[in-house]
Amino acid sequence: MKQINGMIKLHDLEFEPYLSANELEETIAELAQQIHKDYKDKTPVFVGVLNGSFMFLSDLVKHYPGPCEIQFVRFKSYEGTNSTGEVKTLLDFSNLEGKDLIIVEDIVDTGHTLEAIVNRLEQGEQKSYQIASLFLKPEAYQKEIEITYVGMAIPNNFIVGYGLDYNELGRNLPEIYQLKQQHND
Ligand code: IMP
Ligand code: MG
Repeated sequence: MKQINGMIKLHDLEFEPYLSANELEETIAELAQQIHKDYKDKTPVFVGVLNGSFMFLSDLVKHYPGPCEIQFVRFKSYEGTNSTGEVKTLLDFSNLEGKDLIIVEDIVDTGHTLEAIVNRLEQGEQKSYQIASLFLKPEAYQKEIEITYVGMAIPNNFIVGYGLDYNELGRNLPEIYQLKQQHND
């Protein structure tokens, strides 16, 4: 990963700093409190959607002040910087009978992935489920599914870092970068 003046280059594209690690931590700590308020008397299962949510899920549960369980599922819909619209299942839900699930997404863009997950859940044996996403792109979102816990609504720009990738690079960055804007000067 090349770094020049705070910019980073991943494959062929340049990205500029967008959100600091501190800003992320504050957002996530607040979200954990908000979830705990609703789940005080329960033991929720945080279900991380791999790969993108691994860092978010890890920090979210560190800030979660009550008992909870952790699981992961895996789907895939993105190639490059565009959603393909097709969602493949790589690792499915299991042993969630009677549990209160919180589906943990890194980002909801068009909502195709979320819809596929919700369709799976309709056949599941969980007691309840809610959706939590660190980021939501309201301008790109095409579905009606309610996302109960949203860390931040962001413009329709492609971002990387903190679990989010551009063709698998950038996931390890502790802060968020956005695709460099074209300046006409
Ligand atoms: P959707 O199915 O279009 O909502 O896309 C959801 C998935 O696409 C997310 O879980 C991410 O893995 C990926 N994705 C969407 N937007 C971005 C982005 O800005 N940067 C990196 N990955 C993204
Ligand atoms: Mg993802």
